Amino acid sequence: MLNDPQARHLARVQEHLSGRIAAADGWLSFEQFMDIALYAPGLGYYSAGAHKLGAGGDFTTAPEVSRLFGACVARQCAEVLNVLGTGDILEIGAGSGRLAADILLRLDTLGALPDNYWIFDLSADLRERQRRHIARYLPPHLQVRVRWLDQPPGESFDGLILANEVLDALPVARFRWYADHVEELGVVIDDGRLAWEARPASPALAEACRRLSKSGGAWDDGYVSEYCPRLAAWTHSVTHSLRAGAALWFDYGLPRSQYYLPERHEGTLLCHFRQRAHGDPLLYPGLQDITAWVDYTSLAEASRAAGFTLSGFTTQSYFLAGLRVDHEMQIMAAGDETRFARLANQARQLMLPGEMGERFKAMAWLRGLDLPLAGFALQDLRHTL
Ligand SMILES: C[S@@+](CC[C@H](N)C(=O)[O-])C[C@H]1O[C@@H](n2cnc3c(N)ncnc32)[C@H](O)[C@@H]1O
Repeated sequence: MLNDPQARHLARVQEHLSGRIAAADGWLSFEQFMDIALYAPGLGYYSAGAHKLGAGGDFTTAPEVSRLFGACVARQCAEVLNVLGTGDILEIGAGSGRLAADILLRLDTLGALPDNYWIFDLSADLRERQRRHIARYLPPHLQVRVRWLDQPPGESFDGLILANEVLDALPVARFRWYADHVEELGVVIDDGRLAWEARPASPALAEACRRLSKSGGAWDDGYVSEYCPRLAAWTHSVTHSLRAGAALWFDYGLPRSQYYLPERHEGTLLCHFRQRAHGDPLLYPGLQDITAWVDYTSLAEASRAAGFTLSGFTTQSYFLAGLRVDHEMQIMAAGDETRFARLANQARQLMLPGEMGERFKAMAWLRGLDLPLAGFALQDLRHTL
């Protein structure tokens, strides 16, 4: 059940969508729909005031599960910053601000602070939440390094770019495959309600689907999945100013050959509303998160197109193990057994295969720099891409 403000917000979003659908001759591609549902000013899930992360929100991410995640990412950052001598960190999509705070606190003790910790986030209310978190948990000498940007830096810089669970929010095209044609799924108004309707796919989307169809085995007629046309352009736009350093991506996803397996015939779209995951993006537009898994082969191709070297690809579990999460647990527990037991539970959530350990992957791109990264030393999955 929705409460009154939620019901009113949903009604406003639906009215806006109806107008946009009417203006587009009665049909919006799913990609356009997802864009509006997540980002329409004042209305979209990331542009309006939903609580989103953590307790009382819609979903939980690795930094919300445990400070161990940020501590390990900090160790990876330290490796890069130490080789560069100095540098900046740009975090894209910083959520509640926890990851930023945890990284800076650990980098401080490692003696490897960046000159600046920039945050680029499209969500105004999350930026506010980040500001509150940083002000509350960071000492002044760390607070002054954090700055919020309205767009990725225009000037080139050395350092790192980080993004945890941001790529899964990039709007995707949804398609339905037949041996002799491809359809694009879109959204119409039917009997006053949002409903799905297929149209012939554009030549560009049909061609992309033909390429994808060769990667995971033969698809039956009616196979539905999704594809992110803007992945390469978007990653390029947020990484182009990195001169020397690393881009680290974390998200749930698969190499293309596993993503587009014939048995995954309904795609990977997932919505999050009040800690419940479901598969209907038309249900609560503006009130729920809408995500799709990341095709890591596309991400790898985007890295090369943007002039990076693909340095590592592994599961979250191996990434954290490579960065000595066990050591971080000892440091954080500081001899307190109860605290250690709590951290051990959190580590299990981050690392067990049935939890976040395998679904979530880490990928590293390097530019103007060549060094082995500890987070990718224990397991190299690049051959699966
Ligand atoms: C699922 S949350 C993850 C938050 C955080 N990284 C974490 O792990 O807890 C997605 C974050 O990315 C931001 N975001 C979504 N799309 C974005 C985009 N296109 N550009 C910048 N930030 C974006 C959201 O506002 C939100 O802060």
